[in-house]
Amino acid sequence: MTPTTREECAALDAADPLAPLRDEFVLPEGMVYLDGNSLGALPRATPGRIADMVEREWGQGLVRSWNDAGWWDKPRTLGARIAPLVGAGPDEVVVGDGTSANLFKTLVAALRMSDRSVVLGEAGNFPTDLYVAEGAASLTGAVQRRVDPDGPGLAEALAAGDVAVLLLSHVDYRSGTMRDMAGITRLAHEHGALVVWDLCHSAGAVPVDLSGSGADFAVGCTYKYLNAGPGSPSFLYAARRHHAAAEQPLSGWHGHARPFEFSADYEPAPGVSRFLSGSQPLLAAAALEASLDVWARADMALVRAKSLAMTDLFLDRAAAAGISSITPAEHGRRGSQVALVEPEEGAGYPIVQALIARGVVGDFRAPDVMRFGFTPLYLRHVDVWDAAEALREVVETGEWRQERFSLRSEVT
Ligand SMILES: Cc1ncc(COP(=O)(O)O)c(C=O)c1O
Repeated sequence: MTPTTREECAALDAADPLAPLRDEFVLPEGMVYLDGNSLGALPRATPGRIADMVEREWGQGLVRSWNDAGWWDKPRTLGARIAPLVGAGPDEVVVGDGTSANLFKTLVAALRMSDRSVVLGEAGNFPTDLYVAEGAASLTGAVQRRVDPDGPGLAEALAAGDVAVLLLSHVDYRSGTMRDMAGITRLAHEHGALVVWDLCHSAGAVPVDLSGSGADFAVGCTYKYLNAGPGSPSFLYAARRHHAAAEQPLSGWHGHARPFEFSADYEPAPGVSRFLSGSQPLLAAAALEASLDVWARADMALVRAKSLAMTDLFLDRAAAAGISSITPAEHGRRGSQVALVEPEEGAGYPIVQALIARGVVGDFRAPDVMRFGFTPLYLRHVDVWDAAEALREVVETGEWRQERFSLRSEVT
């Protein structure tokens, strides 16, 4: 039952098995942070872990730490730690580079595995996915086609029989719509296409089962729900069955079969390591380690149940305040965010700014979406209640109409 009073929310918090994890994060006093779907909160252990890496591993260990502190293997050991969060085997995930770079690597590898020449993308996908698909297509002589993945166009486009690779976001960055990974992957395979999944809004947000879904490739960032900090390295998944055949375009020495032979000829490593390119920013990787320590204590089923309870509550309160949403009401189609539609043209951005001024932090996605992310590791039901109350007041009183809330910053 969705709570209808703040007291009921407090009772849910008192019984919440995930509640102790909130103490593992630094959260500014008085703030309700609903933007963990853009940049996750700082785990308390992160500064200490980074300091340890700087002072002990780098300062004292120096170059010896490539072996002694496991620096060389970090992309693989971190990948193995992310694997359970996305339903992958420990030997199917590596961490390194950014999401866009890894999208490029997986897309080109998948295109090279097919004798077809169409990348099927989604019209409303996050722009980097569209741009990278364009680049991967032009490199391989393919073309990009775009469809609405939530309509009949997807099945029709796959049925055309010329799609080499389908690139989809598992959870849409704007609406928060979650796609049926297993069903879509099956359909794509039936029509001879491979699938690359973008998990930026899924990893740590919803249960993901890459292996069970038969997914071919996937990428995801670690700075949102995985709380590894701004610009933290992304992860790349390649199904084991594709390792031997996959040829990624950024062939570098970290992906070589025997990098310390310093051979002049490239020979890809036999496993998922072939997707690595060069040296990684290991200080950023240290932050990821600290955040994964928190995730190791979180049960994904509990995270999902709490996420749905919180998004239900926020959707309920928003509807009661007369604000509509483009986030699916159906649990099976919802990620861990709520996207509300601006109540009148041009109101979305200033409403979000007015909320931020009150300490309720969400964001705005052009042209008209107010986006609120729900992160069960550090949010309470009372926070959700308070945020919805603030939203109601900002809209009802017209507080957002103050001129200062319309001043645009570069990042919205
Ligand atoms: C679906 C999706 N893909 C990719 C990205 C970002 O890519 P990168 O990490 O390379 O900046 C985002 C960022 O919000 C995203 O939402």
